Amino acid sequence: MNRRNFLKLNVLSLASMGVAYANSHMGHNMDMMDHDMMGHMGHDMDKMPINREIDTSFIQFAKKDLKLLDQKYFPKGEALKALPVLKNESKEKNVFRATIEVKESQIEVIKGKKTKFYTYNGLIPAPKIEVYEGDKVEILVKNTLKEPTTIHWHGLLVPPNQDGNPHDAILAGQERIYHFTIPQDSAGTYWYHPHPHFISSKQVFMGLAGCFVVKAKKDALSHLKEKDLMITDLRLDENAQIPHNTLIDWLNGREGEFVLINGQYQPKIKLASNERIRIYNTSAARYLNLRIQGAKFILVGTDGGLIEKPIFKDEIFLTPASRVEVLIDAAKDGEFKLESGYYDRDKMMVKEEPNTLFLADISFKKEKLQLPKTLRTFKPLEEPKDFKEVIMSEDHMQMSGLMNKNEEELRIALVSMFLINGKSFDLNAVDLHSKVGVVEEWIVVNKSHMDHPFHIHGTQFELISSKLNGKVKKAEFRALRDTINVRPNEELRLRMKQDFIGHRMYHCHILEHEDLGMMGNLEVKE
Ligand code: C2O
Ligand code: CU
Ligand code: CU
Repeated sequence: MNRRNFLKLNVLSLASMGVAYANSHMGHNMDMMDHDMMGHMGHDMDKMPINREIDTSFIQFAKKDLKLLDQKYFPKGEALKALPVLKNESKEKNVFRATIEVKESQIEVIKGKKTKFYTYNGLIPAPKIEVYEGDKVEILVKNTLKEPTTIHWHGLLVPPNQDGNPHDAILAGQERIYHFTIPQDSAGTYWYHPHPHFISSKQVFMGLAGCFVVKAKKDALSHLKEKDLMITDLRLDENAQIPHNTLIDWLNGREGEFVLINGQYQPKIKLASNERIRIYNTSAARYLNLRIQGAKFILVGTDGGLIEKPIFKDEIFLTPASRVEVLIDAAKDGEFKLESGYYDRDKMMVKEEPNTLFLADISFKKEKLQLPKTLRTFKPLEEPKDFKEVIMSEDHMQMSGLMNKNEEELRIALVSMFLINGKSFDLNAVDLHSKVGVVEEWIVVNKSHMDHPFHIHGTQFELISSKLNGKVKKAEFRALRDTINVRPNEELRLRMKQDFIGHRMYHCHILEHEDLGMMGNLEVKE
């Protein structure tokens, strides 16, 4: 048996002892377990440091008899609605002022049942924020939840002390004002979400995520109409409530069974060839591989804005937290299907059928389109003056010998399992140092068995090259990103700089992994 299968089985057996999962596709061949190997690994484990200092009460598990809502109860096939918009309360020019209340809301998604969500201003999906380059932004956030939260402006270039770091929690019942100025040349497709210590994944799957668009007064595509497709996923139990994570969710990141666009299940979307479409993957852990049979995507932008030239694509790959700007191209008007093709990200203990996921019906109309050949010109890439190495790994030793352990020991193992540079996140540590304004190359390596989407705050990086199985591949085109997938054994070279002094985070954007400690602290100094 190879190592990976062994690991899957090992964890599997653990789950069947503890946390049962009602709706899984996992196999049940426990008897295949290799006892020799168990013994061997159990021995190795003695040398592994286990962090018992961490309060692990944030790790909550779903009920053992978790039963999910039957898919037929979720209303579907309705015309897609635009995202609600966060109102600008300011009358001043170039000032965006608004209030966001973070609260519990009872919302009727399923007929006759109220679901408890966490919401921004009572809305699912959350209100979209739209501002212009150069705007002053001032947002009052009131936290009426019974737990701490923050708002992190994912991908935006805002000062660290305004960026919703876990170090700066808004405690239950408290409020604060976030204020920052949107830099020039930062037009792009961003989003906002909570980033409190340990409970980011929970707050996101409970409903907290919103889109944030920065527009340029004028860019190569500002003559086009726009549409947002915000993709989230939601799990509901048989009572239409959002359950805690299962063990499998903690290991792989949670994927809710209902994949929604702008909060709607399998909607009907009208799209025209001259529409600028922003697609957001704001799910906690779901990878998307979008395609429309019979049509093509024209990729025009990534997380941090337009790319140099339009690129035709059959598929758009979106890790959790990634965004793109696209247009749709087809030979003629017609009805199409938006789907997500299967992507194997080497999950632990899950055996999946390679199923295609249906997302939406598209009715497509061809309109006159003037698509400029050049969308944007990048400055020549600067050579790095410094290097950083970030190694993402999983300590599978933590998973061995767990069959006899209680839930608390299981929790301790989970918070010791997902590592960056050999360590689990420590709120009070500084792991890496950078100098403000200095161009660096970050070498990000995945030495684990599973894909991890790497994300860093406060900057938009460029992929230079990737290396897998000894083969080096140069980046196909220049693009600004803040989140990027790293395959097992892959090594990425990312070019970036930090423009503000202060404290930044970098982490895996499978939010369960981030919560469990696959995150580091970067100190940016003068
Ligand atoms: Cu989208 Cu550290 O976050
Ligand atoms: Cu971020
Ligand atoms: Cu991860």
